[in-house]
Amino acid sequence: SASESHPMQGICSVECDTELTSSSGKILIKQGTVVNAHHKVLADVYIEDGIIVSVRPNIAVGDDVKVIDATGKYVMPGGIDPHTHLEMDFMGTGTIDDFYTGQAAALAGGTTMHIDFVIPINGNLSAGFASYVHKAKKSVMDYGFHMAITKWDEAVSKEMELMVKENGINSFKFFMAYKGALMINDELLLHGLEKCKSLGALAMVHAENGDAVAEGQKRIFDLGITGPEGHALSRPPVLEGEATARAIRLASFINAPLYVVHVMSIDAMEEIAKARKSGQRVIGEPVVSGLTLDESGLWDSDFTTAAKYVMSPPIRRTGHDKALQDALATGILQLVGTDHCTFNSTQKAFGYGDFRKIPNGVNGIEERMHLVWETMVESGKISVTDYVRITSTECAKIFNIYPRKGAILEGSDADIIVLNPNASFRISAISHHSRSDTNVYEGKTGKGKVEVTISGGRVVWEEGNLKITSGSGKYIKMPPFSYLFDGIDKADAAYLASLRSPVHRTGAAY
Ligand code: URP
Ligand code: ZN
Ligand code: ZN
Ligand code: ZN
Repeated sequence: SASESHPMQGICSVECDTELTSSSGKILIKQGTVVNAHHKVLADVYIEDGIIVSVRPNIAVGDDVKVIDATGKYVMPGGIDPHTHLEMDFMGTGTIDDFYTGQAAALAGGTTMHIDFVIPINGNLSAGFASYVHKAKKSVMDYGFHMAITKWDEAVSKEMELMVKENGINSFKFFMAYKGALMINDELLLHGLEKCKSLGALAMVHAENGDAVAEGQKRIFDLGITGPEGHALSRPPVLEGEATARAIRLASFINAPLYVVHVMSIDAMEEIAKARKSGQRVIGEPVVSGLTLDESGLWDSDFTTAAKYVMSPPIRRTGHDKALQDALATGILQLVGTDHCTFNSTQKAFGYGDFRKIPNGVNGIEERMHLVWETMVESGKISVTDYVRITSTECAKIFNIYPRKGAILEGSDADIIVLNPNASFRISAISHHSRSDTNVYEGKTGKGKVEVTISGGRVVWEEGNLKITSGSGKYIKMPPFSYLFDGIDKADAAYLASLRSPVHRTGAAY
């Protein structure tokens, strides 16, 4: 069961307070620049019982209210990380951050909600869901679920419907890689796209050609390259580009919206750009590692250092990172995730002497808000309002929980951060809140620091201290038929009407 232990004790300096910070639940954030995706304005924000009650200048309050001075600082919606793997069984082991430590890390870095991937158990969706409901009982912040689809039959199809209609899931992920484990084939992807479309659920793809990856792994290993660099060499960008293009074309054929997770290469990004330019509903999610790192770490002579960078698709050669930043800045890619999927160095060492056995995954849930600020805003690439859009608002819209999440508006949940643009951050495994003993962003510094995090109307991060309560996080049900589905029925009707006309034929990719 979930709440019996304090998993972080002895590992870091987190305090596990059981009392609310402000017993009245009343907070006033004064004099900050309140930033939403659509607008920024100098105003106060008043919170009561977990909800934003008022956003306007000069709000007067009594002395039972906790006041936070945000003069000279940005007051923004808490980050929403669309892509995490907490306590996931994967590659013969389990990710080391659970729903307590992973969320503690998130809150310390200004992220107040995440969406994690439920993995079915032997293809059984309900069993997978039940297992994640249990894992998430120790949650300290709000969370939602996507679900992976790993096999296909009538039961799976029926259960997808149950997940959407009863369990608050509105997105399903299809792995085109990890042959012999999670990988699906084109036939399953087509069935999945059709089913998703009928349910108003968003199909997501891990786009790499898994058959070619298996060949590439054998080729590189047989050449005698057994270290972590073999990971990058065995699954080059062309395999990501191919699978991205294939998934996009199949989604076009079905006329279903598509979400491409962890876009790591120019090759994949350009397929998304081309599809969007032609009017197709494709969402591209770069992740922090792809935006801010290059593959050089994989060549480090120290195995422990090199192995920590192993994730799939791989972190690419320098140049891909900058291209992904530019695509994100210009709306070709829409939101930033992390793919937070941590293994400590003991677990990574399972692949010593064979890169194919290194558990795939990197950290990022705590670092995302700071690194995106530094890379995109501090660098001058995007506005502060666009920062809010790509770290929070767009995610809330895509997964249909806006404006409850992703906005500082009257009636929205009080998930809020105060960011000081003049303070600086420094990342290290010594001070981070993840349970992992390494950090792929080790030593990175920058300007812009999340000084306060408010989650569900409670101050959970202030002056470098976490005050979190196991079990206080809520499961956020995500309803189907987000804005991405508006008009799909009209396009389908036009397609049907045009079938008998050689001149006016439309839809199903012609
Ligand atoms: O290496 C990665 N990305 N691990 C997590 C699983 C996935 O593919 O998202
Ligand atoms: Zn504790
Ligand atoms: Zn993936
Ligand atoms: Zn992932």
